Amino acid sequence: MPKPPAPRLRRLRRTPALRSLVREDRLSADDLIWPVFLCDGEGATQEVASMPGVLRRSVDLTVEAAADAHEAGIRAICLFPYTDAAHKSDLCEEAWNPENLSNRAIRAIKAEVPDIAVMTDVALDPYNAQGHDGIVRDGQIVNDESVEALVRMALAQAEAGADILGPSDMMDGRIGAIRDALEAAGHIHTTIMSYAAKYASAFYGPFRDAVGASGALKGDKKTYQLDPFNAEEGLRCVARDLAEGADMVMVKPGMPYLDICTRVKERFCVPTFAYQVSGEYAMIRAAAGNGWIDGEKAMMESLMAFRRAGCDGVLTYFAPEAAALIRAGWDGA
Ligand code: PBG
Repeated sequence: MPKPPAPRLRRLRRTPALRSLVREDRLSADDLIWPVFLCDGEGATQEVASMPGVLRRSVDLTVEAAADAHEAGIRAICLFPYTDAAHKSDLCEEAWNPENLSNRAIRAIKAEVPDIAVMTDVALDPYNAQGHDGIVRDGQIVNDESVEALVRMALAQAEAGADILGPSDMMDGRIGAIRDALEAAGHIHTTIMSYAAKYASAFYGPFRDAVGASGALKGDKKTYQLDPFNAEEGLRCVARDLAEGADMVMVKPGMPYLDICTRVKERFCVPTFAYQVSGEYAMIRAAAGNGWIDGEKAMMESLMAFRRAGCDGVLTYFAPEAAALIRAGWDGA
């Protein structure tokens, strides 16, 4: 028997047409959720120093931005309010004020751009004088009292018309408690995307500046967010949140945790999202700004990686830019 020729795997990489034919995945604007920052005022924008190209916008300009995003093919927008120190307290009451910045923005967007899905953040940190996602008593982040507050917050958001609630707090039992409260209040269609495998990460730094939480935070979030070494514990969190009624799950941060994304998708076969967080965005922007990498190519490659890892979609500050490139015919082949 003659020996078969050594495989020439480069044959299929020779031209853009061949590369396109054998491509295993695709990226479209449907896969993107755009996180946006809100601020008070009208016609107001503020730059976020640690996230070049990202703005906080007043509600009116957020409505315009949502309309543009929808026009570009983006299906969902996720709201994060910048909260003034004056609205922060130890019990975080502003979190469930029906007239808080986030709830006003939900109503305004749903009135003007009804077809874009509006996602929220369910966590107390923007409203907490201590900067934590849960209520602090005697230096401890108390779980069950925090869950009660999160339920109030979630109900106010559902009442305002949110399509997707995003509990990002990592307290135990919050998904079940929120789901029960939604059912009891008749909000049977409100979906929950649980931040299920959320790690205690240094990559959230720029976000905490963007929402005005950096100054407030005392200590770290390691008693509720996951240890970056732990994959199995992340999977247990996902199993638990699904059993409690989450419709979709999220892994966060994104790029340093692609292994978790793949394992979640393979094991649970549920809609799985990654959050490409502020620090990941800032790194790509900063390197590009210094001329050290091609920012556009690095951005698209990072988004392709989420698809390859098995994510159904990705929350990314790059969403409008990536959607515009895709619309202009980008295929990267
Ligand atoms: C707060 C929250 C955080 C992010 C989203 N929701 C920060 C944190 O947990 O400290 C981070 C998003 C980002 O870094 O882009 N519950």
